[in-house]
Amino acid sequence: MKPITIAIDGYSSCGKSTIAKSLAAKLHYSYVDTGAMYRAVTLYCIDHGLIKDHAFDEHEIVLALKDIHLTFKFNPNTKSSETFLNGINVEKEIRSMNVSSSVSPVSKIHEVRVHLVALQREMGKNKAVVMDGRDIGTNVFPDAELKIFMTADPDIRTHRRYDELAAKGVKITFEEVRENLISRDHEDTHRKENPLIKADDAIVLDNTDLTREEQLEFVVKLVEDLSLGYDLAK
Ligand code: DC
Repeated sequence: MKPITIAIDGYSSCGKSTIAKSLAAKLHYSYVDTGAMYRAVTLYCIDHGLIKDHAFDEHEIVLALKDIHLTFKFNPNTKSSETFLNGINVEKEIRSMNVSSSVSPVSKIHEVRVHLVALQREMGKNKAVVMDGRDIGTNVFPDAELKIFMTADPDIRTHRRYDELAAKGVKITFEEVRENLISRDHEDTHRKENPLIKADDAIVLDNTDLTREEQLEFVVKLVEDLSLGYDLAK
């Protein structure tokens, strides 16, 4: 099968990266986590005092973009790609609640989006890529051969995220996780530029009641159907 582009978009904490990583490994494709890029920019801004108590000056962030260098390296131990901010591995720091609560406002800034979308297009230009985010199928790669739109019940998503954070020893309440998830969904779906919406030709994967194995089976079947020449938009 000729290499294709696979776009996975969807709500916060839907398990997009889990399914994207497994699919990429199965197909021997590369995996790009675009949320990690918005998170790394946000972390830089927090660390450099450009975001204080969730408030920021947009102009200062735009000026800082030239000093933010993002790279990704595959870690053979975790079998996944890790995010480096100016040469430092920030994979853990970008997942903190501090970053989670400022990332949606930062990702609304026009220049931030233009900068990161250009990087994403460069990273995916040779196809054979699974990329997840909010605007991959609608904006970054509108011609992606396979587009998946992931969703799940908000309570289930909160439980999954809460359990994940608790397992890492993060002190947070269920309500705080739920609030962050709902507010990010609201901001990501209501922003002016490239909001999270389902592309017309995306296939919905509601994983509320599905195990990881069932989800992977579902998407692998879509790839197989595509290789047989089925028209997925129908
Ligand atoms: O996928 P994630 O939860 O790690 O993404 C963090 C935030 O980054 C998300 O709330 C909105 C923003 N984002 C975006 O605006 N566009 C993308 N393609 C990916 C993420």
